[in-house]
Amino acid sequence: MRISDKPIAARLKELGVELRPGVPLSEKTSLGIGGKTDQLLLRQFDTIPEVMRLLADENIPHRFLGGGTNVLIDDGELPYVVLHLPTSQPGMRVEGNTAFVDAAADLGGMVTFCAKRDLGGMEGLIGVPGSVGGALRMNAGAYGTQIGSYVREVELYRAATGEIETLRGDDIRFDYRHTSFAPDDVMLRVKLALPSKPYKEILAGIRVCNEKRRSSQPLNQKSAGCIFKNPAGGSAGRMIDELKLKGHRVGDAMVSDRHANFFVNVANATCADMLKLIDDVRERVRSAYGVELENEVIVWKN
Ligand code: EPU
Repeated sequence: MRISDKPIAARLKELGVELRPGVPLSEKTSLGIGGKTDQLLLRQFDTIPEVMRLLADENIPHRFLGGGTNVLIDDGELPYVVLHLPTSQPGMRVEGNTAFVDAAADLGGMVTFCAKRDLGGMEGLIGVPGSVGGALRMNAGAYGTQIGSYVREVELYRAATGEIETLRGDDIRFDYRHTSFAPDDVMLRVKLALPSKPYKEILAGIRVCNEKRRSSQPLNQKSAGCIFKNPAGGSAGRMIDELKLKGHRVGDAMVSDRHANFFVNVANATCADMLKLIDDVRERVRSAYGVELENEVIVWKN
């Protein structure tokens, strides 16, 4: 969707919003898939409610894109604009055992920043790609760690009230790859309480997780991490592997030959290819095991 020639563009500029016309979202996602649209960079949190009111008044559909590492975006011209928090120099600071971090910060960057200040607990999250905001929304987890365990407060824009609010960690539900945030909540900042641990020890833990990840996941290929959630008591990756589907492809979308729950874009896969592959694999797992796999990746269909 293009709005740079509309009157709203000038108003957005006054509010400090940077408008980038016709951005290919394939460049903003780890899958390398996604059509084109105008991108709005929200440089000042306090203007977000006003920006959202403007977009609503002008009936401009919008979606919020974080790190782009867990999303599958449709092809072609997209019927909405994309909002983005700038990622250059996001705020991070530590006071005692508390870390204050902007949602736009890189998740791994935050883990290392805290580690260097002798705050640990999040070692397992080191190789999880994406932003802190995305990790909060999905309650990202790996190797026995999930981010929700450490959350004390989240500052967010709530579309339901049109205001910036602060939620206490105890009032947020963090389940397996699911939280009680509304789909249109926009994460802005988080306050985490972390256990003290010497940097050297944290580093040793980080190395172990990195090694495990390198040996089992296709880290140098374009993917969105795991495509499906694990069903209760089971493993999506193992089931897909047992069905001998590694290497199975639709166009340039392929089931990774390293980890069967990672689907990779081997060259120029489209969203349509990837969706077809997802549906095909889901169907094969359903007929072989009677299990309906649920997407872990978030799909933005036009
Ligand atoms: N397995 C296979 N074949 C495969 C892949 C896995 O047989 O191709 C088997 C493994 O041998 C193991 C079991 O399945 O016995 C589980 O595999 P793994 O340890 O790789 O963990 P996972 O359940 O597939 C989860 C998370 C990952 C996270 C890892 C490590 C989900 C959907 N996935 O994977 O998170 O990195 O544990 O903690 O919960 C993600 O969220 O995008 C993601 C990659």
